[in-house]
Amino acid sequence: MEKFELKKPINHIAFIMDGNGRWAKRRMMPRTYGHKVACKRIIEIVRFLKEINVKAISLYAFSTENWNRPKDEIDKLFEYLEEFFDEYIQEFINYKCKIIVSGDISKLPEKTQKIVQKAIEITKDFHDYIFNICLNYGGRQEIVRACKLAYEDIKEGKITEKDLNIDTFKNYLYTHDLPEIDLMIRTSGEQRISNFLMYQLAYTEFIFTKTCWPDFTPEKLKECLKEYETRDRRFGAIKE
Ligand code: IPE
Ligand code: IPE
Ligand code: MG
Repeated sequence: MEKFELKKPINHIAFIMDGNGRWAKRRMMPRTYGHKVACKRIIEIVRFLKEINVKAISLYAFSTENWNRPKDEIDKLFEYLEEFFDEYIQEFINYKCKIIVSGDISKLPEKTQKIVQKAIEITKDFHDYIFNICLNYGGRQEIVRACKLAYEDIKEGKITEKDLNIDTFKNYLYTHDLPEIDLMIRTSGEQRISNFLMYQLAYTEFIFTKTCWPDFTPEKLKECLKEYETRDRRFGAIKE
């Protein structure tokens, strides 16, 4: 494979992996088969982004709204997640990749919680690369949670109301250690953010691709990166 180089540096890419169910249905397979194949794509994307030196990945794996799905599908999703960490944890360690979770994992099955906690614990001192997996995550919930944490700190006198601004507010978000998100990609053709990282996406470039996640290979990602390179990020300013 020809070596790919980023013409514009990217620190952080976020993915809404979507379309697993539809992808499987089109193949006359159960929706959960799509989730299984999805895990293969996740690790391929992790490997590829490591190769091209992207510093952080955020991946939407289970939203606060996904509890509305049938229990069988939810159970399988968590089972595949457990298998994912069991199978690939050594690779994350080799990459010196810190695994973090955004979302409230206390509502997840106990076995899943243990496996996820272990992955966080083993990788906690790494800084070269960050894998942020969003589990039982909702953007609105995260913002309300951050407000409550900031309020606690004010009440306890750790900070004053004056200390709170857009730089310090970041400290109360799950993503406090992560760089700004340069690019957000949603697969499957849906054009919405479905309660994903609403605060963090303020100035992110968005790409919506029709490809469903189980078909989203590093080759497809390269096409998105080429598209990203054509974007003119002005951040409200104007260019001469
Ligand atoms: C994304 O695929 C995975 C999760 C939301 C967990 P979907 O399961 O949403 O697949 P579609 O969108 O129904 O095809
Ligand atoms: C968003 O996808 C959540 C994840 C990818 C984990 P959904 O498939 O749940 O989103 P909607 O319901 O189509 O907006
Ligand atoms: Mg979906």
